Amino acid sequence: MNRDRLRGRPSRTGWWVVFVGLIASVTACQGPFPQTTFEPVSRFGEIADGLFMTIFWFGVLVFVLVEGVLIVTLIRFRAKPDAEDPKPVYGHTALEITWTMAPAIIIAFIAVPTIRAIWEEAADPGADALRIEVVGHQWWWEYRYPEYGFISATELHIPVGRQVSLELTSADVIHSFWAPRLGGKRDVLAGRTNRIVFTADSVGEFLGQCAEFCGSSHANMRLKVMVDTQSDFDEWVALQTSGPAPADSLTELQSRGLEVFRTIRTPASNSCIACHAVTGISGGILGPNLTHMASRTTIAGGILANTEENLRAWLRDPAAVKPGQGSEGPNGGIIGMPNVGLTEEEIDALVAYLQTLR
Ligand code: CUA
Repeated sequence: MNRDRLRGRPSRTGWWVVFVGLIASVTACQGPFPQTTFEPVSRFGEIADGLFMTIFWFGVLVFVLVEGVLIVTLIRFRAKPDAEDPKPVYGHTALEITWTMAPAIIIAFIAVPTIRAIWEEAADPGADALRIEVVGHQWWWEYRYPEYGFISATELHIPVGRQVSLELTSADVIHSFWAPRLGGKRDVLAGRTNRIVFTADSVGEFLGQCAEFCGSSHANMRLKVMVDTQSDFDEWVALQTSGPAPADSLTELQSRGLEVFRTIRTPASNSCIACHAVTGISGGILGPNLTHMASRTTIAGGILANTEENLRAWLRDPAAVKPGQGSEGPNGGIIGMPNVGLTEEEIDALVAYLQTLR
């Protein structure tokens, strides 16, 4: 064995690697992190965060013990010029029992809080929980409020302090609902209802997104949970349960937009009303319900601010904004919003009309 090599000092390159690694790990800790799980705003979030920290500290303990023994061994038994070869240890029963039992005990310490956390967050919702049906679509989220009888999209409004039960299903492929500060992610499957139950304890806007690859715009399947005060929530519900502005109150341009919206095109799947519902005007269910789309802060599955300019770009060429829009699905259907070939005049009118849908 080459004893000179064993005694070698770390090279200059080695020190550089350590230095760059330290800088990288420190700079990686700069915020903001809107989707952090370390600042939970619900009991579910706290359970997950608490469990993570418990396991983290067990990990630290094991790391310190193992590395400590390793370092002591390295120093104490390092090669010396005239040392004898070390004596191997065979069949040490006490040692073998110890290193079998120690991990078993550690795993028991981790298993108990883990199982407790699973039971707690999987408990049935209370009788007065707010039930919301969440439907995943390629690539946007639909929210149905059976208690109030309306349907919304992309932005999930809930009242602070009231338990909510999200009942998750998919209209197509597998998605996964994840609003990290409110609770753990959960798969969203067609033909099955999964559930997330939580109670938000802070008012605010909390971001989330689909967490299961679901096609070319998976990364653009965002969501926002708006945790409102009870009075803001009541106000929002009152708005959502009201109808759109009456047709006779529309300006000429807005009326023209309504006409564009109702036009049956060729093929019929290129008509706005084939997919989008607006109370009293159409009942399409393939795309987001637009009855109150102007009251949302974002469009296009949450990737664009709801501005006139963005709306225009979206209507002009959806696939340019969000990849995969209008592509053919596996069963011959169309995924997302196709480019229906609107003229600039039609876009102007449609934008004016859509902005009345408050
Ligand atoms: Cu839906 Cu990824």
